[in-house]
Amino acid sequence: MAIRFSSDFAKNITDKAIHAAVLDTVTALAGACKQISHICARGPLEQGLGVETGAANTDGDAQKALDVRSDEIITKVLETAPVAYYASEEQDDIVILDADKPLAVASDPLDGSSNIDTNVSIGTIFSIFETNDNAASSFLRPGSEQICGGFFVYGPQTTLVITAGAGTQTYVLDPDSGDFELAIADMKITPMSTEYAINASNHHHWDAPIRAYIEDCLLGATGPLGTKYNMRWVGSLVADANRILSRGGLFMYPSDDRDGYSHGRLRLLYEANPVAFVIEQAGGAATDGTRRILDVPLGTLHQRVPLVFGSKRAVQTLGNYHKKQDQL
Ligand code: AHG
Ligand code: MN
Ligand code: MN
Repeated sequence: MAIRFSSDFAKNITDKAIHAAVLDTVTALAGACKQISHICARGPLEQGLGVETGAANTDGDAQKALDVRSDEIITKVLETAPVAYYASEEQDDIVILDADKPLAVASDPLDGSSNIDTNVSIGTIFSIFETNDNAASSFLRPGSEQICGGFFVYGPQTTLVITAGAGTQTYVLDPDSGDFELAIADMKITPMSTEYAINASNHHHWDAPIRAYIEDCLLGATGPLGTKYNMRWVGSLVADANRILSRGGLFMYPSDDRDGYSHGRLRLLYEANPVAFVIEQAGGAATDGTRRILDVPLGTLHQRVPLVFGSKRAVQTLGNYHKKQDQL
């Protein structure tokens, strides 16, 4: 079984064959992520999950043992799913599974690698498309063409946050049944929040609008925002996204002037797009600071994008800081 979908899950996918293929693929991913969750739950009892393998991925990140192991587990389950192509953070190029199959899957197999040995929540992110003419054109397209997307969180609960365009749902892996059970049928993000998430150590690297906004948050009630703000930063995108879905907030990973960070740190295909999809379907917003994430053209598999998402009014407020800057 692995996952007990709600009856209206993916109701917007009217093509019966594609609908069935999406459910089969998500079921396969749920099986893979149960395995990854089990490995995470054992943590230090497994040898060296957080040890660097000595290799680096295309984006230049040092690969850790669990990154590679998670990617292998996902690749294996997709071989028996209705999936033609697989694009992964941990693989330079697209993996051709079976070009006759109808779907293409992109994944960040293990998100939050810097937290692997700290018992902090980490996860797996995925994005599903119908295939186009070939492998490359099945992925090099705007995120608005995704038909399903979401992420698993390996934390106090193992959860799946997912959308297929008809709202955002949360499923919880029930340790008793061994299946993912529906927990929240239609998630909605509160439109305003006074909590923000950013890696504040990069303050002097940011562009002026982000610096100005964060400084106004720090001024709190005495500044132009007129109220006290709070801050959280987990360092695992899936954990920050899950918190923001649960109680609102604003996540920012902006571009900055460090080498390689001119487009931020997060990757459009397998991090920003699926997170933006679930956030928008829950009534929130996701931009690169000004432009809707799901409209950003994707030119290369591991392309980075500045990422801002969360409570709609908070995203708009930050957008106004960018507009003010553009008018100077
Ligand atoms: P990954 O482990 O897949 O490379 O992703 C890590 C990302 C994301 O999960 C998180 O929000 C961000 O890196 C944290 O970046 P910093 O370590 O620069 O704060
Ligand atoms: Mn990641
Ligand atoms: Mn990763």
